[in-house]
Amino acid sequence: MIELPGLIDPHVHVREPGQTHKEDWDTATQAALAGGVTMILAMPNTKPPIFDESTLNLALEAARAKARCDYGQYLGAGPANALEVARHARRAAALKMYLDSTFGELRLDDMTLWLEHFRRWPGPGPIVLHAESRSMAAALAFAQMFDQPVHIAHVSLREEILVIREAKARGVKVTCEVCPHHLFLTAPLTCAEGVTPGRSEVRPRLATQDDINALWENLDVIDCFATDHAPHTLSEKDGENPPPGFPGLETLLPLLLTAVSEGRLTLEQLVQKAYHNPRRIFALPEQPETRVFVDETDEYELRAAEMKSRCGWTPFEGWRVKGRVRKVILRGQTVFQDGSVLAAPGFGRDVRAA
Ligand code: NCD
Ligand code: ZN
Repeated sequence: MIELPGLIDPHVHVREPGQTHKEDWDTATQAALAGGVTMILAMPNTKPPIFDESTLNLALEAARAKARCDYGQYLGAGPANALEVARHARRAAALKMYLDSTFGELRLDDMTLWLEHFRRWPGPGPIVLHAESRSMAAALAFAQMFDQPVHIAHVSLREEILVIREAKARGVKVTCEVCPHHLFLTAPLTCAEGVTPGRSEVRPRLATQDDINALWENLDVIDCFATDHAPHTLSEKDGENPPPGFPGLETLLPLLLTAVSEGRLTLEQLVQKAYHNPRRIFALPEQPETRVFVDETDEYELRAAEMKSRCGWTPFEGWRVKGRVRKVILRGQTVFQDGSVLAAPGFGRDVRAA
């Protein structure tokens, strides 16, 4: 048995408010605990998006009633809310900016809108960017101009990790995260039977083996592991216009422990990138008396049918892994044991609560 700290996932789509048929604060935090994750930071692209005081209250009220692990809620950068989000920054996990994708109310079509956010965002959380390829380079230029810490979400490409390496070496305040699916999967998914093309849809897209190799070769540049847990139901993934996104909370630790058992990663690196670094980058509180116990010798196949997420599938269905979460203790209480979540809804705490 190995003992780990409670893992921190800085990138989770909880889907509440607005899309609770995919997931909600209850099922997302059950999935987190089953995966050895005791703290999640929730993305703002809900319905409605979380981008001002009243929508922040809406998300935090749902979380307070239903969350079974600790949590923070992101604010989203919109075209006209730089002052408003800065005013509520202390209650938010961080600020999320979508630089190139169209995203309803969180769309930032003009770079002058980026200026406002970079000028005003006060922290304590960083500016987290969905910015791929050349947009990412633009984000690094803004970080340097404003001396603002930025955190690049879900790095997936060789060119991205190599540019971040260079930016770090030159003093840009940049950190980054990588998702397990970008470390282990190329498109299209072929592992399970009857897989439709919609199952492979995710943003950023699954990249090439060359990109995957570059991520593994530059592990020292990667600050955090994050799941980008983005649950959509199977009928949505297999239907017309499949939405992009993979669930990931319950497969993160088994996949990484398997990499440890294969000698591709050390346990120290795992703990650094899934606990110490996210805690430092997002200025998160300590969770006293919090431990995760894993049986590092248990070999088995990943099965969505055994998972807590409401979405009902995983892109890693049938993957053989080594390492199972047996028990999770959060703030002195046993919250997960041998497949069962024992924490009640509402046990989770807001990491930004005064
Ligand atoms: C995310 C989602 O489903 O919310 N999907 C994804 O593929 N990562 C959207 C996003 O974060 O861009
Ligand atoms: Zn995301």
